Amino acid sequence: MDSLTITRPDDWHLHLRDGDMLRAVLPETARHFGRAIIMPNLVPPVVTAADAAAYRERIMIALPEGSDFTPLMTLYLTEGTDPDDLAAAYESGLITAVKLYPAGATTNSDSGVRNFENAMPVLERMAAIGCPLCVHGEVTDPSVDIFDREAVFIDKILDPLRTRLPDLKITMEHVTTKDGIDYIASGKNIAGTITTHHLIINRNHILVGGIKPHYYCLPVAKRETHRLALRTAATSGDPRYFLGTDSAPHIDPLKENACGCAGCFTATNTMSCLAHVFEEDGALDKLEGFASLHGSAWYGVAPNAGKITLTKQSDPVRYPAKISTADGDVTVFDPGFPLYWSVT
Ligand code: NCD
Ligand code: ZN
Repeated sequence: MDSLTITRPDDWHLHLRDGDMLRAVLPETARHFGRAIIMPNLVPPVVTAADAAAYRERIMIALPEGSDFTPLMTLYLTEGTDPDDLAAAYESGLITAVKLYPAGATTNSDSGVRNFENAMPVLERMAAIGCPLCVHGEVTDPSVDIFDREAVFIDKILDPLRTRLPDLKITMEHVTTKDGIDYIASGKNIAGTITTHHLIINRNHILVGGIKPHYYCLPVAKRETHRLALRTAATSGDPRYFLGTDSAPHIDPLKENACGCAGCFTATNTMSCLAHVFEEDGALDKLEGFASLHGSAWYGVAPNAGKITLTKQSDPVRYPAKISTADGDVTVFDPGFPLYWSVT
């Protein structure tokens, strides 16, 4: 097969930032994707309905002329989130979900939740109104090894939370372990997003032969057995797993740094990378489900009306190595192999 037409995809986990960075990276996503869930970890974070409305407006203004891309907004859950403000934002359609960052887990997560007990009233309200919770599933306990933080989060936080609030609809984001995949498979009211880069890299890619800051993201890539479990889940056709790229731009000086930021920028070449991965696993027929159908079904919205066509070329597709922004360059994710599928 050298041509594949699928429903226009959506990205169920995306960082767009703000200002000049937003203007530079938004076209990279809007080119192929119909919608994206927009992460609220700005500085300061998107906490209230008013913040989300204002951020949405800035995104709409930054969209390229003629683009019909739709940003799906989220609120950043804090221990001080007002349940009434959140409920009104959800019920009016302003927000699609609420994002939970354990405080200190990742980039711009300082305002996140420290004591989960303090977040219970708002989580109870979300369960009652059907508002989905997107979870960054890593514990922050310094005594827990960084490669174990997702598995420990499942045991210590996620499973008890689901027992207490079985009606709360939870998206476990950027699943990086077999533990996460198996946990999702075993439960109700839970689904998981998988990133493009976690289907491609394992922790050796970050550390062997010199440290590769552009492969460093959170949750950090794990060992190969976990990557293979993610591949199996993504290409299985199981509707509980779908694409959330977690494309997270940082300028090169902040990545190539003695204390480099976490985040891989994959918006530009994600669909080419995914077509490569799915073809390699003999599952091109499952790509549409993963990238275009399962996520919209989970969030209860219709699939996009438009289509995209992926075409396999005989020569590698050329992508820019970097996107230039007024703040500096952002390196595009390098899968480490040539890409032959292009989006037309
Ligand atoms: C994200 C970012 O840069 O905002 N970084 C990352 O490594 N994925 C935050 C996040 O989603 O963890
Ligand atoms: Zn993210």
